[in-house]
Amino acid sequence: MKKRILTGDRPTGPLHLGHYVGTLANRVRLQDEYDVFLVIADYHALTRKAEKEHVVATRQFSRDLVLDYLAVGIDPEKTTIYVQSDVPSVCELHLLFSMLTTVPRLERVPTLKEVMADENLDIASYGLLGYPVLQAADILHVRAHLVPVGKDQESHVELTREIARRFNFLYGEVFPEPAALIGDVPTLPGTDGRAKMSKSLGNAIFLCDDAQMVEQKVRGMYTDPTRVRADIPANPEGNPVFAYHDAFNPDRAEVEDLKARYRQGKVGDVEVKKKLARALNAFLDPIRERRAYYAARPRLVDDILAAGAAKVRPISQATLDAARTAMGLGRSSK
Ligand code: TRP
Repeated sequence: MKKRILTGDRPTGPLHLGHYVGTLANRVRLQDEYDVFLVIADYHALTRKAEKEHVVATRQFSRDLVLDYLAVGIDPEKTTIYVQSDVPSVCELHLLFSMLTTVPRLERVPTLKEVMADENLDIASYGLLGYPVLQAADILHVRAHLVPVGKDQESHVELTREIARRFNFLYGEVFPEPAALIGDVPTLPGTDGRAKMSKSLGNAIFLCDDAQMVEQKVRGMYTDPTRVRADIPANPEGNPVFAYHDAFNPDRAEVEDLKARYRQGKVGDVEVKKKLARALNAFLDPIRERRAYYAARPRLVDDILAAGAAKVRPISQATLDAARTAMGLGRSSK
């Protein structure tokens, strides 16, 4: 039997280039080697904001995520895509796991402080504190071995391993200890030069941006602020424009030439950026074509999500039964 991958995203908006290099590329690459499950984590999306309009918006965002997946080349014949709340047995597993996780352990998870700072929250809800426990349940209810994620999610996979280990120690071997798989570019900087590309920071280039939008965003990108003229020699390291060239421009000779001339003060930002916009659009064009193809078939998204949930439900229920039996609770009688 193939080993399993589980990973996913919160349906809070479109995916961007950072997601691509952090995790999407790995998901596409590993579809043949592994059984891949993608969770659209709609319950996780409620941990920051639970207002009705936000809840309602996650429905559309979930559908958009499916289009993003298909557009980058995820094949629904090979990869199982489902919405988290369509498989409620994961919530029971989350509850069992919550008994094995202490509050101080969760308070130490680095993403908690980051989210609270980003969202201007003074105190965390019970749901937000438990976010990584629910994520552990996502991963472990299909007994996944590998979790391709961005660097920021590493601490959640670490907690998942701890929960699996603790469960197995207390009740017997039920869960594998899954490993995180971080992409080639662990953290892509934002267009504004900040360390991380993020929708909420407003510094992202989205996979669904059209060619003109990409050109406009690249033109406005942050570059070395000390380099006020093109003839000033400067260092391409740490410059996000070159980080994107490294990640997305397949013409290595062009990139090396630009870097060499940049170091000598022999190239202007305008040329470096023009070539970047061209490379990004060449990368995005096939993604745009696939998106258009799938977007013209709206029933397809519903069918994919219905088939995905139908496939995951019995797997999840079997894991829950195994966990309950191991614990001495016995199988649920439903
Ligand atoms: N927390 C992940 C994120 O914000 C989304 C997610 C939910 C996830 N459940 C998961 C990722 C399980 C990997 C595995 O991106």
